[in-house]
Amino acid sequence: MKLIKQPKDLQREILNLKSKGKTIGFVPTMGNLHQGHLSLIEQAKKTADIVVCSIFVNPMQFGPNEDFDSYPRTLDDDIAKLKTLDTDYLFTPTINDIYPQGKEIHTSVEANRMTDKLCGASRPGHFRGVTTVVNILLNIVQPNFAVFGKKDYQQYQIIRAMVKDLMMPIEIVGAPIEREANGLAMSSRNGYLTTQQKEQASVLRKTILSVADGLQQQQPIAQLKERAIETLTENGFKIDYFEIVRQTDLETASLSDKKLLIAAAAWMGKPRLIDNYEIDLQ
Ligand code: PAJ
Repeated sequence: MKLIKQPKDLQREILNLKSKGKTIGFVPTMGNLHQGHLSLIEQAKKTADIVVCSIFVNPMQFGPNEDFDSYPRTLDDDIAKLKTLDTDYLFTPTINDIYPQGKEIHTSVEANRMTDKLCGASRPGHFRGVTTVVNILLNIVQPNFAVFGKKDYQQYQIIRAMVKDLMMPIEIVGAPIEREANGLAMSSRNGYLTTQQKEQASVLRKTILSVADGLQQQQPIAQLKERAIETLTENGFKIDYFEIVRQTDLETASLSDKKLLIAAAAWMGKPRLIDNYEIDLQ
């Protein structure tokens, strides 16, 4: 695996590889890699000649009261994991490499759809930070495709919209959610949970699945939501949102919609956990 820090060095390498007809798959991350991230690398490996992973904890997507400073940074472990998968390149730019003018006055990219609901409602400016950094990274790497986890479903859809709107010649691939044995979606923030909280947190997945059952049986959405919020609250969660939306545009769904997404965010102690489930009604 080749480690590259400077955007220009990576651009030069990629240009060279592309001139030889190699296809490039890209997996952007913020590091502290777990099986969720690694599954994206594995997915990219299946079809790309060359796989590039980036690790960059992006200050622009963290709110003033969020965990940018304490976000886990575990580069040596991450490198070891990426090597076992034969990742071709690891790109680890500094903040100054990405935002040489400072992030406040740097050109930003704002998707104007789907950004103010779900996670966007409680994290103002978050998706602007995501679309800006992903745009910069895609411009550096110029991959044929990039893989994003559906764990961050809203992020995945917003990036798809951005790439489409800006006519970027890059395919955005969505990958399934990797989970712990108890069903909890893997996340770098799970490390903030105690063993007991981790066990309790599995109720989030179970609750989402029981709402999915209810939807299959055409039970009223409002009632399903109310019951789910009650169950989660009883199990120690503080709810941010629990919503049933359309997969394509994340607008509030009705039972006449077929492709639905159950999406939830809730705090369990310190971390705010998210999870979702795609359901296609007949
Ligand atoms: P990060 O949280 O590190 O996640 C990197 C990628 O891994 C994202 O596409 C995310 O959806 C995916 N991922 C995380 N947990 C997963 C799981 N349990 N199963 C499947 N995929 C999972 O998302 C970001 O970083 C940043 O916002 C980024 C896109 C890198 C921009 O800064």
